[in-house]
Amino acid sequence: MPSTPAIEAQRRRTFAIISHPDAGKTTLTESLLLAGGAIHLAGVVAARGAARRTKSDWMKIERERGISVSASVMTFEHQDLVFNLLDTPGHEDFSEDTYRTLTAADSAVMVLDAAKGIEPQTLKLFEVCRLRDIPITTFINKMDREAQDPFALLDEIHQKLAMDTAPMYWPAASGQRFAGMLDLQRDEFVPYHRLEAGEQGFASEERQKRGAADFLLGVRDDVRAELEETAELAREGLPKFDLGAFREGHLTPVYFGSALRRFGVLELLAGLAAHAPAPSEQRAMVKGNATDVAPAREDVTGFIFKIQANMDPKHRDRVGFFRICSGRFQRGMTLKTAAGKGFNVHNPLMFMAQEREIADEAFPGDVIGIPSHGGLRVGDSLSEGGDVVFQGIPNFAPEILKRVRVRDPLKQKHLRKALEALGEEGVTQVFKPIQGGDLVVGAVGALQFDVLDERIKAEYGLEVVFETSPYQAARWISAEKRADVDAFIEKSGGQMAEDVDGAPVYLGKSAWEIGYVQDKNPAVRFSASKERAA
Ligand code: G4P
Repeated sequence: MPSTPAIEAQRRRTFAIISHPDAGKTTLTESLLLAGGAIHLAGVVAARGAARRTKSDWMKIERERGISVSASVMTFEHQDLVFNLLDTPGHEDFSEDTYRTLTAADSAVMVLDAAKGIEPQTLKLFEVCRLRDIPITTFINKMDREAQDPFALLDEIHQKLAMDTAPMYWPAASGQRFAGMLDLQRDEFVPYHRLEAGEQGFASEERQKRGAADFLLGVRDDVRAELEETAELAREGLPKFDLGAFREGHLTPVYFGSALRRFGVLELLAGLAAHAPAPSEQRAMVKGNATDVAPAREDVTGFIFKIQANMDPKHRDRVGFFRICSGRFQRGMTLKTAAGKGFNVHNPLMFMAQEREIADEAFPGDVIGIPSHGGLRVGDSLSEGGDVVFQGIPNFAPEILKRVRVRDPLKQKHLRKALEALGEEGVTQVFKPIQGGDLVVGAVGALQFDVLDERIKAEYGLEVVFETSPYQAARWISAEKRADVDAFIEKSGGQMAEDVDGAPVYLGKSAWEIGYVQDKNPAVRFSASKERAA
């Protein structure tokens, strides 16, 4: 059967992993790639080494601080499905980056450390997921270590995230006593097989049916009794999996396992295959009419959710991460922005695990990298006809504003260029005061300034200083009538600036002041986020 965009879309599962640092996102990613055959055991370490060597200087921060700053895409196949795993930064200072990545994901996997439960950043990232309303699957990791009581863990998710929890499996103890888990749907026991050093494969390849002679064979009596009792309680007392509630984001199916010991990972993957949504219709304006763009649509459409500077700091080329929403993408195609700018995509990148490969074909749900020397922006819609505009990706009002000055006063223009380019990439937000003066840069988290500083130095050779700015908040200004905006700008000139798109922004000295000015100017809208028209 020849494949069509509709058939291929059904085979796609595009998802992101969110977790508090150290909960095991990297380890789980590796285990998933292993399951997909995208990497081999021996390759894991090698790939890590190679990745280290090719990382550019500015990524030093990432290494030094042990956090993952940049998100990437990994594609692997498993049981005739294509999984696109979008990596998100774990640090909350980069939550805007996470938000942008989630716009391109159809679901998310939330990884929790079984001993720690919900941690502060899990909560923050979860809130970002909520903004997108995407379905969340939970993986409770590190069951090979002493874990909290599973009822307590599920209750915490329920309380803190206001979601029903439906356990798909139930663990038999944890840590030293960890014996495996019961499949609550099929009533089969999956014994935990401790992998020897260097052993290939997964620790959960065997299944024991209830009633069969080997059911719970080898499980200690106390663990067996505890499992029978608690699994019964879980079955009776906790919500059952409901596909509709999951898809609407009201319920999360819960899986248990150990990413490190490769236990429970295949089960998680099977769960994603069975329940996580394939790409579906996306709201867009097509030729000016609100339309649901179905993956089956013939022409290629999609949007850019991330721009990343190429790994090589000597070249200023950048890669736009393009999420395909419809059609069959073929290498060499020309895609157009709504503003009519065309991009001939002859070298699209596909992200097969750690390797970057040239893609010949891609389908809805896939992400391809479009190299460009600029001109592409986060939030841009691209399509064959240049007539499709997806809902844009918003900018969030920065929480920290600083004045930026270049040490060498002759390099002022260079600084502006550098900041504009980095602003387009979404590394920072740049505001240009309309009455002149130093540029103001804004970030959601303090670490973003470190990245900015490093990159300006490494890629543009500029020494800059960040100074405290008198402003604490920024708001995008709009009004029904353009005259109201103009009048407000006229009146507040000293505190007015323009963002990279030239949109008017009011810089407030405090949240209180913004509230006050807002009250005084009822005809003007003050927005804490701006949706960039694509
Ligand atoms: P992150 O990306 O979410 O930050 O977490 P990462 O996978 O790097 O895991 C953090 C630490 O937790 C690592 O140990 C990792 O080996 C360990 N870990 C992950 N999954 C499991 C698991 O299922 N069981 C156990 N026992 N440990 C797990 P590390 O010592 O910090 O690093 P490494 O030297 O092992 O790489």
